[in-house]
Amino acid sequence: MKGFRVSIISWFCFLFLCCFVCGQLDYNYYDASCPNLTRIVKYSVWSAISNDTRMAASLLRLHFHDCIVNGCDASVLLDGGEKNAKPNKGSARGFEVIDTIKANVEKFCPNTVSCADILTLAAREAILLIGGPFWSVSFGRRDGLTTSEDAANNQVPSPFEPLENITAKFVSKGLDIKDVVVLSGAHTIGFAQCFTFKQRLFDFDGAGNPDPTMDASMVSNLRSLCPNQDDSSDSNLAPLDAVTTNKFDNVYYKNLVNKTGLLQSDQALVGDNNTTAQMVLGYSRYPYLFLKDFAASMVKLGSVGVLTGKDGEIRKNCRVVN
Ligand code: HEM
Ligand SMILES: *[C@@H]1O[C@H](CO)[C@@H](O)[C@H](O)[C@H]1NC(C)=O
Ligand SMILES: *[C@@H]1O[C@H](CO)[C@@H](O)[C@H](O)[C@H]1NC(C)=O
Ligand SMILES: *[C@@H]1O[C@H](CO)[C@@H](O)[C@H](O)[C@H]1NC(C)=O
Ligand SMILES: *[C@@H]1O[C@H](CO)[C@@H](O)[C@H](O)[C@H]1NC(C)=O
Ligand SMILES: *[C@@H]1O[C@H](CO)[C@@H](O)[C@H](O)[C@H]1NC(C)=O
Ligand SMILES: *[C@@H]1O[C@H](CO)[C@@H](O)[C@H](O)[C@H]1NC(C)=O
Repeated sequence: MKGFRVSIISWFCFLFLCCFVCGQLDYNYYDASCPNLTRIVKYSVWSAISNDTRMAASLLRLHFHDCIVNGCDASVLLDGGEKNAKPNKGSARGFEVIDTIKANVEKFCPNTVSCADILTLAAREAILLIGGPFWSVSFGRRDGLTTSEDAANNQVPSPFEPLENITAKFVSKGLDIKDVVVLSGAHTIGFAQCFTFKQRLFDFDGAGNPDPTMDASMVSNLRSLCPNQDDSSDSNLAPLDAVTTNKFDNVYYKNLVNKTGLLQSDQALVGDNNTTAQMVLGYSRYPYLFLKDFAASMVKLGSVGVLTGKDGEIRKNCRVVN
Protein backbone atom coordinates (compact mmCIF):
# COMPACT_ATOMS: atom_id res chain seq x y z
CA MET A 1 0.00 0.00 0.00
CA LYS A 2 2.76 2.37 1.02
CA GLY A 3 4.83 1.42 -2.03
CA PHE A 4 1.81 2.01 -4.23
CA ARG A 5 1.40 5.49 -2.78
CA VAL A 6 5.05 6.31 -3.33
CA SER A 7 4.91 5.15 -6.93
CA ILE A 8 1.79 7.25 -7.54
CA ILE A 9 3.63 10.23 -6.11
CA SER A 10 6.71 9.63 -8.24
CA TRP A 11 4.53 9.29 -11.31
CA PHE A 12 2.98 12.61 -10.49
CA CYS A 13 6.42 14.18 -10.13
CA PHE A 14 7.57 12.62 -13.37
CA LEU A 15 4.57 13.91 -15.30
CA PHE A 16 4.90 17.32 -13.73
CA LEU A 17 8.61 17.60 -14.49
CA CYS A 18 8.10 16.33 -18.02
CA CYS A 19 5.42 18.92 -18.77
CA PHE A 20 7.51 21.54 -17.09
CA VAL A 21 10.53 20.79 -19.27
CA CYS A 22 8.48 20.45 -22.47
CA GLY A 23 6.78 23.77 -21.67
CA GLN A 24 9.99 25.75 -21.57
CA LEU A 25 11.13 28.20 -24.18
CA ASP A 26 14.56 27.51 -25.64
CA TYR A 27 17.29 29.82 -26.96
CA ASN A 28 18.34 27.22 -29.55
CA TYR A 29 14.85 26.23 -30.60
CA TYR A 30 15.30 27.17 -34.29
CA ASP A 31 19.06 26.56 -34.56
CA ALA A 32 18.55 23.53 -36.77
CA SER A 33 15.17 24.27 -38.32
CA CYS A 34 15.68 27.95 -39.17
CA PRO A 35 19.31 28.95 -38.64
CA ASN A 36 18.96 32.32 -40.39
CA LEU A 37 15.85 33.42 -38.51
CA THR A 38 17.48 36.31 -36.67
CA ARG A 39 19.20 37.50 -39.85
CA ILE A 40 15.94 37.49 -41.80
CA VAL A 41 14.02 39.33 -39.07
CA LYS A 42 16.81 41.83 -38.50
CA TYR A 43 16.93 42.74 -42.18
CA SER A 44 13.16 43.14 -42.54
CA VAL A 45 12.94 45.26 -39.39
CA TRP A 46 15.87 47.38 -40.54
CA SER A 47 14.16 47.95 -43.85
CA ALA A 48 10.86 48.91 -42.19
CA ILE A 49 12.54 51.34 -39.78
CA SER A 50 14.61 52.90 -42.59
CA ASN A 51 11.32 53.78 -44.28
CA ASP A 52 9.53 54.84 -41.08
CA THR A 53 11.49 55.57 -37.90
CA ARG A 54 8.37 55.29 -35.77
CA MET A 55 8.01 51.63 -36.72
CA ALA A 56 10.50 50.66 -33.96
CA ALA A 57 8.06 52.04 -31.39
CA SER A 58 5.07 50.49 -33.10
CA LEU A 59 6.58 47.00 -33.15
CA LEU A 60 7.53 47.22 -29.48
CA ARG A 61 3.99 48.26 -28.56
CA LEU A 62 2.47 45.53 -30.74
CA HIS A 63 4.49 42.92 -28.85
CA PHE A 64 3.31 44.39 -25.52
CA HIS A 65 -0.31 44.34 -26.65
CA ASP A 66 0.09 40.74 -27.77
CA CYS A 67 1.61 39.53 -24.49
CA ILE A 68 -0.61 41.46 -22.08
CA VAL A 69 -3.77 39.91 -23.60
CA ASN A 70 -3.92 36.13 -23.10
CA GLY A 71 -0.13 35.84 -23.34
CA CYS A 72 2.39 36.15 -26.17
CA ASP A 73 0.43 34.07 -28.67
CA ALA A 74 0.16 36.44 -31.66
CA SER A 75 -3.58 36.80 -30.98
CA VAL A 76 -3.23 40.54 -31.64
CA LEU A 77 -2.24 39.71 -35.23
CA LEU A 78 -5.42 37.79 -36.08
CA ASP A 79 -7.91 39.77 -38.12
CA GLY A 80 -11.20 40.45 -36.44
CA GLY A 81 -10.64 40.36 -32.67
CA GLU A 82 -8.17 42.27 -30.52
CA LYS A 83 -7.33 44.47 -33.47
CA ASN A 84 -10.77 46.04 -33.24
CA ALA A 85 -10.55 46.77 -29.52
CA LYS A 86 -10.32 50.35 -28.28
CA PRO A 87 -6.60 50.34 -27.45
CA ASN A 88 -5.72 48.96 -30.91
CA LYS A 89 -8.18 50.23 -33.49
CA GLY A 90 -6.71 53.17 -35.40
CA SER A 91 -3.71 52.91 -33.09
CA ALA A 92 -1.77 49.63 -33.25
CA ARG A 93 0.67 49.63 -36.16
CA GLY A 94 3.15 47.27 -37.77
CA PHE A 95 0.86 44.49 -38.99
CA GLU A 96 2.13 44.80 -42.57
CA VAL A 97 5.72 44.66 -41.35
CA ILE A 98 5.02 41.40 -39.53
CA ASP A 99 3.32 40.06 -42.68
CA THR A 100 6.44 40.85 -44.70
CA ILE A 101 8.74 39.22 -42.15
CA LYS A 102 6.53 36.15 -41.96
CA ALA A 103 6.54 35.84 -45.77
CA ASN A 104 10.34 36.07 -45.82
CA VAL A 105 10.66 33.51 -43.03
CA GLU A 106 8.23 31.12 -44.77
CA LYS A 107 10.43 31.24 -47.87
CA PHE A 108 13.45 29.87 -45.98
CA CYS A 109 11.76 27.82 -43.25
CA PRO A 110 8.17 26.93 -44.19
CA ASN A 111 5.71 26.01 -41.42
CA THR A 112 8.40 26.31 -38.79
CA VAL A 113 8.43 29.66 -37.00
CA SER A 114 5.43 30.94 -35.05
CA CYS A 115 4.06 34.44 -35.49
CA ALA A 116 4.40 34.93 -31.72
CA ASP A 117 8.16 34.22 -31.92
CA ILE A 118 8.50 36.50 -34.95
CA LEU A 119 6.79 39.40 -33.15
CA THR A 120 8.91 38.88 -30.04
CA LEU A 121 12.11 38.85 -32.08
CA ALA A 122 11.02 41.80 -34.24
CA ALA A 123 10.50 43.94 -31.11
CA ARG A 124 13.99 43.02 -29.84
CA GLU A 125 15.62 43.77 -33.21
CA ALA A 126 13.76 47.08 -33.50
CA ILE A 127 14.98 48.36 -30.14
CA LEU A 128 18.50 47.13 -30.83
CA LEU A 129 18.56 48.84 -34.23
CA ILE A 130 17.62 52.23 -32.75
CA GLY A 131 20.39 51.97 -30.15
CA GLY A 132 18.46 50.45 -27.25
CA PRO A 133 19.55 47.52 -25.10
CA PHE A 134 19.94 43.90 -26.19
CA TRP A 135 18.13 41.05 -24.49
CA SER A 136 18.21 37.36 -25.30
CA VAL A 137 15.03 36.01 -26.85
CA SER A 138 14.13 32.39 -26.30
CA PHE A 139 11.80 30.60 -28.68
CA GLY A 140 9.10 27.98 -28.95
CA ARG A 141 5.96 30.07 -28.47
CA ARG A 142 3.02 28.73 -30.43
CA ASP A 143 0.26 30.79 -32.01
CA GLY A 144 -3.14 31.02 -30.36
CA LEU A 145 -6.32 29.89 -32.04
CA THR A 146 -8.57 32.65 -30.74
CA THR A 147 -8.65 36.42 -30.39
CA SER A 148 -11.12 38.49 -28.42
CA GLU A 149 -12.02 42.14 -28.68
CA ASP A 150 -13.43 42.12 -25.13
CA ALA A 151 -10.26 40.57 -23.74
CA ALA A 152 -8.17 43.38 -25.24
CA ASN A 153 -10.57 46.04 -23.98
CA ASN A 154 -10.35 44.63 -20.47
CA GLN A 155 -6.69 43.60 -20.26
CA VAL A 156 -4.70 46.32 -22.02
CA PRO A 157 -3.97 49.13 -19.53
CA SER A 158 -5.65 52.44 -20.27
CA PRO A 159 -3.96 55.83 -19.90
CA PHE A 160 -7.07 57.01 -18.03
CA GLU A 161 -7.00 54.49 -15.20
CA PRO A 162 -5.13 54.92 -11.92
CA LEU A 163 -1.73 53.38 -11.20
CA GLU A 164 -3.29 50.81 -8.85
CA ASN A 165 -5.44 49.47 -11.69
CA ILE A 166 -2.56 49.36 -14.15
CA THR A 167 -0.38 47.60 -11.60
CA ALA A 168 -3.15 45.09 -10.92
CA LYS A 169 -3.29 44.25 -14.63
CA PHE A 170 0.47 43.68 -14.75
CA VAL A 171 0.40 41.59 -11.56
CA SER A 172 -2.36 39.40 -12.98
CA LYS A 173 0.11 38.48 -15.77
CA GLY A 174 2.96 37.63 -13.43
CA LEU A 175 4.61 41.03 -13.80
CA ASP A 176 5.14 43.42 -10.90
CA ILE A 177 5.20 47.10 -10.00
CA LYS A 178 8.85 47.41 -11.02
CA ASP A 179 7.92 46.07 -14.47
CA VAL A 180 5.23 48.77 -14.67
CA VAL A 181 7.79 51.50 -14.05
CA VAL A 182 10.51 49.96 -16.21
CA LEU A 183 8.36 48.97 -19.19
CA SER A 184 6.60 52.34 -19.17
CA GLY A 185 10.06 53.57 -20.13
CA ALA A 186 9.13 52.30 -23.62
CA HIS A 187 7.41 55.66 -23.88
CA THR A 188 10.85 57.15 -24.46
CA ILE A 189 10.00 56.55 -28.14
CA GLY A 190 6.86 56.81 -30.23
CA PHE A 191 3.78 58.96 -30.36
CA ALA A 192 0.32 59.31 -28.88
CA GLN A 193 -2.87 60.75 -30.37
CA CYS A 194 -4.50 63.83 -28.83
CA PHE A 195 -7.47 61.91 -27.48
CA THR A 196 -5.21 59.88 -25.20
CA PHE A 197 -4.10 62.93 -23.17
CA LYS A 198 -6.49 65.76 -24.10
CA GLN A 199 -8.48 65.43 -20.86
CA ARG A 200 -5.44 66.86 -19.07
CA LEU A 201 -5.33 70.08 -21.08
CA PHE A 202 -8.58 71.98 -20.60
CA ASP A 203 -11.05 71.08 -17.88
CA PHE A 204 -9.18 68.52 -15.81
CA ASP A 205 -10.77 69.47 -12.49
CA GLY A 206 -14.26 70.53 -13.58
CA ALA A 207 -13.34 74.13 -12.84
CA GLY A 208 -11.68 74.86 -16.16
CA ASN A 209 -8.09 74.13 -15.13
CA PRO A 210 -5.54 71.81 -16.74
CA ASP A 211 -3.87 68.93 -14.92
CA PRO A 212 -1.67 70.59 -12.26
CA THR A 213 0.91 67.83 -12.71
CA MET A 214 1.63 68.98 -16.28
CA ASP A 215 4.21 71.69 -16.93
CA ALA A 216 2.45 74.93 -17.97
CA SER A 217 4.35 75.51 -21.20
CA MET A 218 3.72 71.92 -22.20
CA VAL A 219 0.00 72.50 -21.59
CA SER A 220 0.02 75.51 -23.87
CA ASN A 221 1.95 73.72 -26.64
CA LEU A 222 -0.37 70.76 -26.53
CA ARG A 223 -3.46 72.99 -26.52
CA SER A 224 -2.50 74.27 -29.94
CA LEU A 225 -1.90 70.73 -31.23
CA CYS A 226 -5.19 69.48 -29.76
CA PRO A 227 -7.67 72.40 -29.73
CA ASN A 228 -10.62 72.14 -27.36
CA GLN A 229 -13.97 71.15 -28.88
CA ASP A 230 -12.29 70.16 -32.13
CA ASP A 231 -12.59 66.41 -32.47
CA SER A 232 -10.93 66.57 -35.88
CA SER A 233 -7.61 67.01 -34.08
CA ASP A 234 -8.11 63.91 -31.93
CA SER A 235 -5.74 61.84 -34.01
CA ASN A 236 -2.96 64.45 -34.17
CA LEU A 237 0.30 63.05 -32.83
CA ALA A 238 2.48 64.24 -29.97
CA PRO A 239 5.78 62.58 -29.07
CA LEU A 240 5.68 60.58 -25.84
CA ASP A 241 9.18 61.95 -25.14
CA ALA A 242 9.38 65.43 -26.66
CA VAL A 243 13.09 65.87 -25.83
CA THR A 244 14.67 62.82 -27.52
CA THR A 245 11.73 61.41 -29.46
CA ASN A 246 13.48 58.70 -31.47
CA LYS A 247 16.21 57.83 -29.01
CA PHE A 248 15.89 54.88 -26.65
CA ASP A 249 17.21 56.54 -23.50
CA ASN A 250 16.18 57.43 -19.94
CA VAL A 251 14.92 60.92 -20.80
CA TYR A 252 11.33 59.68 -20.36
CA TYR A 253 12.07 59.53 -16.62
CA LYS A 254 13.74 62.95 -16.61
CA ASN A 255 10.59 64.29 -18.23
CA LEU A 256 8.42 62.77 -15.50
CA VAL A 257 10.57 64.47 -12.87
CA ASN A 258 10.11 67.69 -14.88
CA LYS A 259 6.32 67.32 -15.08
CA THR A 260 6.48 66.79 -18.83
CA GLY A 261 5.14 63.24 -19.06
CA LEU A 262 2.52 63.06 -21.82
CA LEU A 263 -0.02 60.52 -20.59
CA GLN A 264 -1.73 60.80 -17.23
CA SER A 265 -0.60 57.23 -16.56
CA ASP A 266 3.02 58.26 -17.24
CA GLN A 267 2.99 61.25 -14.93
CA ALA A 268 1.20 59.18 -12.25
CA LEU A 269 4.42 57.20 -11.73
CA VAL A 270 5.78 60.23 -9.87
CA GLY A 271 2.44 61.01 -8.23
CA ASP A 272 1.51 59.98 -4.70
CA ASN A 273 3.05 56.50 -4.81
CA ASN A 274 6.41 56.80 -3.14
CA THR A 275 7.60 53.41 -4.40
CA THR A 276 7.24 54.21 -8.08
CA ALA A 277 8.40 57.81 -7.62
CA GLN A 278 11.69 56.60 -6.11
CA MET A 279 12.21 54.21 -9.01
CA VAL A 280 11.56 56.99 -11.53
CA LEU A 281 14.09 59.20 -9.79
CA GLY A 282 16.63 56.38 -9.94
CA TYR A 283 16.14 55.76 -13.66
CA SER A 284 16.26 59.51 -14.37
CA ARG A 285 19.75 59.56 -12.85
CA TYR A 286 21.18 56.22 -13.99
CA PRO A 287 20.70 55.62 -17.73
CA TYR A 288 22.47 52.26 -17.73
CA LEU A 289 20.36 51.00 -14.85
CA PHE A 290 17.29 51.73 -16.96
CA LEU A 291 18.66 49.95 -20.05
CA LYS A 292 19.66 46.91 -17.99
CA ASP A 293 16.33 46.69 -16.14
CA PHE A 294 14.37 47.30 -19.33
CA ALA A 295 16.08 44.32 -20.98
CA ALA A 296 15.26 42.13 -17.96
CA SER A 297 11.61 43.19 -17.91
CA MET A 298 11.29 42.57 -21.66
CA VAL A 299 12.41 38.97 -21.11
CA LYS A 300 9.67 38.62 -18.49
CA LEU A 301 7.10 40.23 -20.79
CA GLY A 302 8.07 37.86 -23.62
CA SER A 303 7.31 34.80 -21.52
CA VAL A 304 3.87 35.84 -20.28
CA GLY A 305 1.30 33.10 -20.89
CA VAL A 306 3.17 31.46 -23.74
CA LEU A 307 1.70 28.43 -25.47
CA THR A 308 4.13 25.57 -25.91
CA GLY A 309 4.01 21.88 -26.73
CA LYS A 310 0.72 20.70 -28.18
CA ASP A 311 -1.26 23.87 -27.50
CA GLY A 312 -1.57 26.33 -30.34
CA GLU A 313 -0.09 26.03 -33.82
CA ILE A 314 2.46 27.46 -36.22
CA ARG A 315 0.32 29.81 -38.26
CA LYS A 316 1.00 29.97 -41.99
CA ASN A 317 -0.44 33.49 -42.27
CA CYS A 318 -0.27 35.62 -39.12
CA ARG A 319 -3.73 37.10 -39.80
CA VAL A 320 -5.72 33.86 -39.81
CA VAL A 321 -5.65 30.52 -38.00
CA ASN A 322 -4.65 27.59 -40.20
C1 HEM B 1 1.73 50.97 -18.32
C2 HEM B 1 0.63 51.12 -19.02
C3 HEM B 1 0.59 51.67 -20.41
C4 HEM B 1 -0.34 52.52 -20.89
C5 HEM B 1 -1.54 53.07 -20.14
C6 HEM B 1 0.02 52.81 -22.25
C7 HEM B 1 -0.71 53.62 -23.09
C8 HEM B 1 -0.30 54.04 -24.34
C9 HEM B 1 -1.02 54.94 -25.19
C10 HEM B 1 -2.37 55.57 -24.87
C11 HEM B 1 -0.29 55.14 -26.31
C12 HEM B 1 -0.65 56.03 -27.50
C13 HEM B 1 -1.50 55.23 -28.48
C14 HEM B 1 -2.15 56.10 -29.53
O1 HEM B 1 -2.29 57.29 -29.30
O2 HEM B 1 -2.52 55.57 -30.60
C15 HEM B 1 0.91 54.36 -26.18
C16 HEM B 1 1.93 54.31 -27.11
C17 HEM B 1 3.02 53.49 -26.99
N1 HEM B 1 3.23 52.54 -26.01
FE1 HEM B 1 2.23 52.38 -24.28
N2 HEM B 1 1.16 52.14 -22.57
C18 HEM B 1 1.54 51.42 -21.49
C19 HEM B 1 2.62 50.56 -21.42
C20 HEM B 1 3.46 50.29 -22.46
C21 HEM B 1 4.44 49.23 -22.48
C22 HEM B 1 4.64 48.22 -21.35
C23 HEM B 1 5.08 49.30 -23.67
C24 HEM B 1 6.17 48.43 -24.23
C25 HEM B 1 7.00 47.73 -23.49
C26 HEM B 1 4.52 50.42 -24.38
C27 HEM B 1 4.97 50.88 -25.60
C28 HEM B 1 4.41 51.94 -26.28
C29 HEM B 1 5.02 52.53 -27.45
C30 HEM B 1 6.37 52.17 -28.01
C31 HEM B 1 4.13 53.50 -27.90
C32 HEM B 1 4.27 54.36 -29.17
C33 HEM B 1 3.72 53.55 -30.33
C34 HEM B 1 3.80 54.22 -31.69
O3 HEM B 1 4.30 55.34 -31.81
O4 HEM B 1 3.33 53.60 -32.66
N3 HEM B 1 3.53 50.97 -23.64
N4 HEM B 1 0.86 53.68 -24.98
C1 LIG C 1 21.77 31.55 -44.33
O1 LIG C 1 22.24 32.75 -44.89
C2 LIG C 1 23.53 32.62 -45.48
C3 LIG C 1 23.98 33.99 -45.91
O2 LIG C 1 22.95 34.70 -46.55
C4 LIG C 1 23.44 31.65 -46.64
O3 LIG C 1 24.72 31.51 -47.22
C5 LIG C 1 22.95 30.32 -46.12
O4 LIG C 1 22.75 29.45 -47.22
C6 LIG C 1 21.64 30.48 -45.37
N1 LIG C 1 21.30 29.21 -44.76
C7 LIG C 1 20.08 28.69 -44.87
C8 LIG C 1 19.87 27.37 -44.23
O5 LIG C 1 19.14 29.26 -45.42
C1 LIG D 1 6.76 53.38 -45.60
O1 LIG D 1 6.12 54.02 -44.52
C2 LIG D 1 4.86 54.59 -44.81
C3 LIG D 1 4.34 55.26 -43.54
O2 LIG D 1 5.24 56.14 -43.05
C4 LIG D 1 3.89 53.53 -45.29
O3 LIG D 1 2.66 54.11 -45.66
C5 LIG D 1 4.49 52.78 -46.48
O4 LIG D 1 3.66 51.71 -46.82
C6 LIG D 1 5.87 52.26 -46.13
N1 LIG D 1 6.49 51.68 -47.30
C7 LIG D 1 7.08 50.52 -47.29
C8 LIG D 1 7.67 50.04 -48.56
O5 LIG D 1 7.12 49.82 -46.28
C1 LIG E 1 -10.09 50.56 -11.20
O1 LIG E 1 -10.37 49.25 -10.72
C2 LIG E 1 -11.51 49.19 -9.89
C3 LIG E 1 -11.57 47.79 -9.30
O2 LIG E 1 -11.49 46.83 -10.31
C4 LIG E 1 -12.74 49.56 -10.71
O3 LIG E 1 -13.90 49.51 -9.91
C5 LIG E 1 -12.55 50.96 -11.26
O4 LIG E 1 -13.63 51.29 -12.12
C6 LIG E 1 -11.25 51.08 -12.03
N1 LIG E 1 -11.04 52.48 -12.36
C7 LIG E 1 -10.89 52.90 -13.62
C8 LIG E 1 -10.77 54.37 -13.82
O5 LIG E 1 -10.84 52.14 -14.57
C1 LIG F 1 2.22 51.88 -4.67
O1 LIG F 1 1.35 51.28 -5.61
C2 LIG F 1 1.38 49.89 -5.55
C3 LIG F 1 0.49 49.38 -6.67
O2 LIG F 1 -0.65 50.14 -6.80
C4 LIG F 1 0.95 49.39 -4.20
O3 LIG F 1 1.03 48.00 -4.16
C5 LIG F 1 1.86 49.99 -3.19
O4 LIG F 1 1.41 49.62 -1.90
C6 LIG F 1 1.90 51.47 -3.31
N1 LIG F 1 2.90 51.95 -2.38
C7 LIG F 1 2.74 53.07 -1.70
C8 LIG F 1 3.83 53.42 -0.74
O5 LIG F 1 1.75 53.77 -1.80
C1 LIG G 1 14.20 69.57 -16.73
O1 LIG G 1 13.97 70.84 -16.20
C2 LIG G 1 15.15 71.53 -15.90
C3 LIG G 1 14.78 72.83 -15.24
O2 LIG G 1 13.70 73.43 -15.88
C4 LIG G 1 15.94 71.78 -17.19
O3 LIG G 1 17.15 72.44 -16.92
C5 LIG G 1 16.24 70.44 -17.81
O4 LIG G 1 16.87 70.64 -19.06
C6 LIG G 1 14.98 69.68 -18.00
N1 LIG G 1 15.34 68.38 -18.46
C7 LIG G 1 14.82 67.88 -19.53
C8 LIG G 1 15.29 66.52 -19.89
O5 LIG G 1 14.00 68.45 -20.22
C1 LIG H 1 9.83 57.57 0.23
O1 LIG H 1 10.88 56.65 0.01
C2 LIG H 1 12.15 57.12 0.37
C3 LIG H 1 13.19 56.09 -0.08
O2 LIG H 1 12.67 54.80 -0.09
C4 LIG H 1 12.18 57.42 1.84
O3 LIG H 1 13.45 57.94 2.19
C5 LIG H 1 11.10 58.44 2.18
O4 LIG H 1 11.05 58.65 3.57
C6 LIG H 1 9.76 57.97 1.71
N1 LIG H 1 8.78 59.03 1.86
C7 LIG H 1 7.56 58.80 2.32
C8 LIG H 1 6.65 59.98 2.40
O5 LIG H 1 7.16 57.69 2.62
